[in-house]
Amino acid sequence: MTTTRRPYGRDEFGFDTEQVHAGESIGDGYGARVTPIHMSNGFVFDSFDHSEARFRGDDGGWVYSRNANPTNSVAEARLTALEHGVDTILVGSGQAAVTVALLGILRAGDHLLASSSLFEGSKGLFRENFDRFGIDVDFVDDPHDLSQWRGLLRPTTRAVFAETIPNPKNDLIDFALVSGFAREAGVPFVVDSTSATPFLVRPIDHGADIVVHSASKFLTGHGASIAGAIVDGGTFEWSRYPEKFPQFVGRSYSDFTRSVIAARLGPVLSPFNAFLLLQGLETLSLRMERHSRNALAVARWLEARPEVESVDYAGLEANPYHSIAERYYPNGTGSVFGFTLVGGREAARTVIDAVELFSRMTNIGDVRSMILHPATTSHSQVDPSAREHNGIAEGLVRLSVGIEDAADLIADLDQAFARLPVPAEPAVSLA
Ligand SMILES: Cc1ncc(COP(=O)(O)O)c(C=O)c1O
Repeated sequence: MTTTRRPYGRDEFGFDTEQVHAGESIGDGYGARVTPIHMSNGFVFDSFDHSEARFRGDDGGWVYSRNANPTNSVAEARLTALEHGVDTILVGSGQAAVTVALLGILRAGDHLLASSSLFEGSKGLFRENFDRFGIDVDFVDDPHDLSQWRGLLRPTTRAVFAETIPNPKNDLIDFALVSGFAREAGVPFVVDSTSATPFLVRPIDHGADIVVHSASKFLTGHGASIAGAIVDGGTFEWSRYPEKFPQFVGRSYSDFTRSVIAARLGPVLSPFNAFLLLQGLETLSLRMERHSRNALAVARWLEARPEVESVDYAGLEANPYHSIAERYYPNGTGSVFGFTLVGGREAARTVIDAVELFSRMTNIGDVRSMILHPATTSHSQVDPSAREHNGIAEGLVRLSVGIEDAADLIADLDQAFARLPVPAEPAVSLA
């Protein structure tokens, strides 16, 4: 059995220390300093009695990697520390994290209330897959309007779902408003914090109960692994609502969700990918600082260009969500945002075809910078009027700004913008 190390007995360290050390174990018999990859389906029992004790959970040892694995456990403990939670469940993708986190709470006949500003994969899951499970979902058109949340609440509502930094519109969620509503409704607040990571904001500190991540993005950071995580904040008082949540009578959220949902539906994370996640987590704060600094520099450059109609980056003073950014995001507002070109789809085509440093890709959170045209890719299945309503214009371009030199990224955009027609001078009024 490995043991978790807490240097000189302290309970909590600063973020930079936790991202390197939290949950680490140096007890594999060889003294390996880097967490080993325990690539084994199962673990040996010493005897008949030992196997019985393991299955009863009496000796806390390992049984089978679909339920728990020593490499995964280190990454889980590290994320728990970074998010200020009480437990973490790693799964095979961000999509699996959203699914498993919510299926731990919801069953047929239940209702989910979600912000409308969400990753399209989550929206598709709620609309098409949850519908087949008999779970109803309503989307709150303006998640900053409390009356809209209240207006869609049903007696069967069992969870509230939102994203911290939605992409590409950067319409940051107001934690006080949504968590206050969830408390009032007596349901947990589940938040997807993929674009923020715990370095930019810790949702549990601001009233969220469960945090989910696509760990394929910034948490892993190098773009070489698909992974997902569910962090239990330990904050929701399930025992107050036994009729609503009978599955948690005498059982914690993470225990039920790990053993009854994740292990049975089976979207587990390979220990190899948990290892890749650990390599990324060690440098999370350094990367997020650089991502945010670069994104702000690029957003400021775009804001000043006549070819650009608008820039959706909450780090800009003029952005409507800047006051939320100031309240909750002291370390920056991340890397992913959209901007809209005056010249519409043709201008977007010109810029996207001309960039050389930015990669044309549908991914976010890699160290490399990426560019995408949402209207013809990630949002192409969305009805055009709904796209328009959600601000996904034909001229909208999404960036995931990497950790390269900001000057080089701006130079790449500059040479691409040079291919655009010169915008007409605004008419001079003679009045
Ligand atoms: C906010 C958000 N949640 C979930 C996901 C799904 O993650 P994955 O691709 O790891 O399944 C993504 C993927 O882009 C995302 O951006």
